[in-house]
Amino acid sequence: MSNNIESHLVEDRVFKPSKEFSKQARISSMAEYRRIWKESVANPGKFWAGEASELAWQTKWKKPLEWKAPDAKWFVGGKLNVSESCLDRHATGARRNKAAIIFEGEPGDKRVLTYAQLHREVCKFANVLTAQGVKSKDRVIIYMPMIPEAAIAMLACARLGAVHSVIFGGFSAESILDRLDDCGAKHVITADGGWRRGKVVPLKDNVDQALKKNKTVESVIVYKRTGQKVAMKKGRDHWWHELEEGVSGKHKAKAFDSEHPLFILYTSGSTGKPKGILHTSGGYLTGAYTTCKYVFDMRDDDVYWCTADVGWITGHTYIVYGPLAMGVTQVMYEGAPNFPDFGRFWQMVEEYGVSIFYTAPTAIRAFIKAGDQFPEKYDLSSLRLLGSVGEPINPEAWMWYHNKIGGGRCPIVDTWWQTETGAIMITPLPGATPLKPGTATLPFFGVDAAILDETGRECKANEGGRLVIRQPWPSMTRTIYRDKARFKKTYWSDYDGMYTAGDGARRDKQGNFWIVGRLDDVLNVSGHRLGTAEVESALVGHKAVAEAAVVGRPDDLKGQAVVAFVTLKGGIEGSPELLGELRNHVGTVIGAIAKPDDIHFAPALPKTRSGKIMRRLLKELVGTGNVTGNTTTLEDFGVLANLKKSIGRKK
Ligand code: WT7
Repeated sequence: MSNNIESHLVEDRVFKPSKEFSKQARISSMAEYRRIWKESVANPGKFWAGEASELAWQTKWKKPLEWKAPDAKWFVGGKLNVSESCLDRHATGARRNKAAIIFEGEPGDKRVLTYAQLHREVCKFANVLTAQGVKSKDRVIIYMPMIPEAAIAMLACARLGAVHSVIFGGFSAESILDRLDDCGAKHVITADGGWRRGKVVPLKDNVDQALKKNKTVESVIVYKRTGQKVAMKKGRDHWWHELEEGVSGKHKAKAFDSEHPLFILYTSGSTGKPKGILHTSGGYLTGAYTTCKYVFDMRDDDVYWCTADVGWITGHTYIVYGPLAMGVTQVMYEGAPNFPDFGRFWQMVEEYGVSIFYTAPTAIRAFIKAGDQFPEKYDLSSLRLLGSVGEPINPEAWMWYHNKIGGGRCPIVDTWWQTETGAIMITPLPGATPLKPGTATLPFFGVDAAILDETGRECKANEGGRLVIRQPWPSMTRTIYRDKARFKKTYWSDYDGMYTAGDGARRDKQGNFWIVGRLDDVLNVSGHRLGTAEVESALVGHKAVAEAAVVGRPDDLKGQAVVAFVTLKGGIEGSPELLGELRNHVGTVIGAIAKPDDIHFAPALPKTRSGKIMRRLLKELVGTGNVTGNTTTLEDFGVLANLKKSIGRKK
């Protein structure tokens, strides 16, 4: 695996932005970056207030920031409607007939929504939601394919001050149920299905199954996308297009407090239960907007494409809120990158003249594996800037992206951030920062990032430690929904008044941040976070399983693969059938991304004398095959020897 420290240490290729790129960029030199960065961390309130003033506010704030760790209030006293900044001001101005979303469905259907049309659709749907009884602060679950209606639903909620919680379409019925129950949603917005690799994802069926065990949901709105037959429960389920009949496309946006909740997005943590990360309005939008402006350096003539799904934070910030607040034209795609083949993305880049392209290392690695013949077939000369997000990008993948996709001319912004940070935190600025393959480089404006050791001392160059943010920023999460205690414990208890990200990292002599990986029991599978405890609890939920331990193994494509060690209940024998059954079981409980890549049946798991499973040993075992770390606390050495044997047999 190339995201290990050794491979990073030898990386000395440096790519400076070209003169032409720098000349037209908003930030065009390191001197300018350093000057603004210094001022911005010396006075974050002032810096962010300057940016926030470029958004549409109905009432100006009295104070940019009120801070008492871990509670931040941004733009105190300010009132806005987030959807006005994203829609109304463009739709009523010069961008009225500019394309907001150029959509392509997986089967090849195409649709363009201008800012005026998108605005009208959102207004109409906001009126529909109001008629359905949706009110300010109500939680609304959105479980949709990657179609414009996903964004329309989100923005319509925002317009009403309702709190959306988008669930990734790849998650299972049980995952929907958990999230529904956690946030107490009364409304669900979904579709009959979505297209993925030529097949229908049965979204409505999954919702139906989840709702069998739920008591809070009163209404389900279903968008017709794929057209297959679905059950519609009378009184509860309604077709989107029927509800819209005769409904006005006009809607006056009411202003909400800057700290009004905007959305909840669930993400994995080190314990079994996903965390409902809460984001609020004015600060979040400011973070989304400002990073689009400087990191992607978005211009009015850009065609921007972020390949994420709206079910993840990347889709929230860099498909919906940021780009629309900037008034840019963007491409949106419903399906898989390899449908019908690995040329799909590049064909679309050529067809729409995409100039800014933002994707994940796992996708890049899959493209490398598929072969250069795919991108080589298409004209990619419209591209001017590339982005990467989700996990460390290995230098080999970086070089391929740079040369094969970027034609050697496009800067790559490797952006580090998290669901909790809301927006990009560590990143190059494309017209200024010298790039090194594998590092997200330097903190964004207003971001005071550092690496500390366990005692709180700042690490020296190349010394590994924990990544922290020492000052508040506007798009930071305000809490874990209904669990302030977990919020404090997870992010704010390591060091006084500082946010701990949960990542290990080091800085090189130039100050670049090299992210090494998660420090907690969280895996990064294809750029998505997965808690080992979640997978373990899914496995233990199967009737044959007594105990399970899950660890990550370095994987060329996914970054990390999911490896499970399972002990079976008395009398049950491990078999290839049971193996398949367990994989599918995890798929049903969480979703396909969580299916273990390997399952090892083991007679026992390595434990400490106090009974804790020693995942560290298992990780070493599946990684290097050798256990080198301290094993003195191991209760029974025979267990380890047996595991080594059983792994050896499988390989
Ligand atoms: C975790 C956050 C932010 C949207 C996608 C994932 C890892 C993210 C990078 C990067 C190295 C990265 C970190 C982080 N990560 N971007 N550019 N370089 N690592 O969001 O699911 O909240 O996961 O992803 O480990 O903590 P998320």
